[in-house]
Amino acid sequence: MALTFTFVPAPSKKSDIAVVGVLEGGKLTASAAALDKKSGGFLSSALKASTKFKGKSGQAMTTALPKKSGFARVMTIGIGKAADLKPQNLETLGGKIYLALQSAGAASASLYVDQDFKDRNAGAAIAAGMKLRSYTYTKFKSSKDKDITSVDKIEIVTSEASRQQKAYASLDAELQGVFLARDLVNEPPNTLYPQSYAERIAKELRPLGVEVEILDDKKIQKLKMGGVWAVGMGSLQKPRVVILRWNKGKKGPAPLGFVGKGVTFDTGGISIKPAADMDLMKMDMGGSAAVVGLFRALAKRKAKINAVGVVGLAENMPSGDAFRPGDIIKSMAGKTIEILNTDAEGRLILADCLTYIQRTYKPRILVDLATLTGAMMVALGFDYCGSFVNRDDLWKRLDQSGKDTSEKLWRMPLDAAFRKEMEGRVADLQNLGNLGRYGGACSAAGFLEHFIENDTPWAHLDIAGTAWSKIDKPTVPKGGTGFGVRLLNRLAQSYE
Ligand code: BES
Ligand code: MN
Ligand code: ZN
Repeated sequence: MALTFTFVPAPSKKSDIAVVGVLEGGKLTASAAALDKKSGGFLSSALKASTKFKGKSGQAMTTALPKKSGFARVMTIGIGKAADLKPQNLETLGGKIYLALQSAGAASASLYVDQDFKDRNAGAAIAAGMKLRSYTYTKFKSSKDKDITSVDKIEIVTSEASRQQKAYASLDAELQGVFLARDLVNEPPNTLYPQSYAERIAKELRPLGVEVEILDDKKIQKLKMGGVWAVGMGSLQKPRVVILRWNKGKKGPAPLGFVGKGVTFDTGGISIKPAADMDLMKMDMGGSAAVVGLFRALAKRKAKINAVGVVGLAENMPSGDAFRPGDIIKSMAGKTIEILNTDAEGRLILADCLTYIQRTYKPRILVDLATLTGAMMVALGFDYCGSFVNRDDLWKRLDQSGKDTSEKLWRMPLDAAFRKEMEGRVADLQNLGNLGRYGGACSAAGFLEHFIENDTPWAHLDIAGTAWSKIDKPTVPKGGTGFGVRLLNRLAQSYE
């Protein structure tokens, strides 16, 4: 069962468990104190008896209650210090509450969000955190009978029920985009390949009112998208380019433009990758998944904005038909590129998608997302996404969106030196810099910059480190993270 929330001014008394907050140091929130009183001091004596529970954020303790309290059990949950109750921390807290309820074996809960939570949307933020942590990927599990104790009904008890209900509805649209992106990233490469992926996008988004146009292999060749074609031609599963349009904004303003790298599996091609962890390269379509997820979020919340997305889908395989190191290909923009390493394939796909979107739609801003370089992970690890942005205004909006959603960004340099490094000797450009792997994320961005026309405001987000999580985190289970959906959704909101 999917986790659902209701927002109510008073509890229905049908829940398995009450959840009340305790501040760091042990001070009861108003609702905890009220429940304590009703239980005849049961709760406070249980808290006193514990040597462990100190109200640290996310700490949980479950206690049985006497009948007169109205609940069979109560979970006290540490909410930390009052000053820490900011939206991002509240989402983390929500994730931890979800896990605590799961291990307590409660199917339903009444969660009190009272005046001790200063944020007027605290209940919505906690609910969003719970929802994010509840994500599971079970598509390929034969036995679907889930643990009967899995939490599915939460009522948030708050004096501002309708306000928080509304705030949550808007967040829920965003989270539906995140869940779609996670599903796509988690899907194995034998079922998610360019054609099936393109059809999946159409199936998911057309019913929501998003226009979906699919360019097949013939069209890709006709448009002279030499980069997309080169990467995809070694696979039996030929490439696709998918265009997403959502034009529910005012007539007139140019659309926001989004581009995503969608390599459904990256073996490295003829410059083949080592065997260890190669399975993870199913996540090399994470940038495209973020764009697809964004359009689901825009549609679900009926965003009043014009937006266009272009995702380049290809499988990078070694074969008798594959492109080779040494090949010189011609991009859609007309620039020739010498291939020095077939594993530097993402930039070839992005180059054509960037050209296509700029020439067809003249977007007012352009953001591309790609699991582009291992060097990005070397530089920033797994929590920060490197952002290369050619305008301070666009950077400010992105940075703010990142702070609001905990999808953290770190600004990286664009520089003429990186562009120069990618200029070719026998062709216009080369797909590998002259300085080897040093600064590899920056030279990749420098390569892309050769394809930005008319000084379009542009951001390149290298999500190699953030698209996949190797560990469980409070709001992000291990696997595809859906990184980028929330960020882009907030960015779009800033233009509405
Ligand atoms: N998809 C990879 C980058 C990547 C690596 C993403 C690990 C996520 C996790 C990309 O296509 C790639 O192979 N990049 C090469 C570029 C190099 C050949 C210039 C890299 O990073 O090694
Ligand atoms: Mn590669
Ligand atoms: Zn790749």
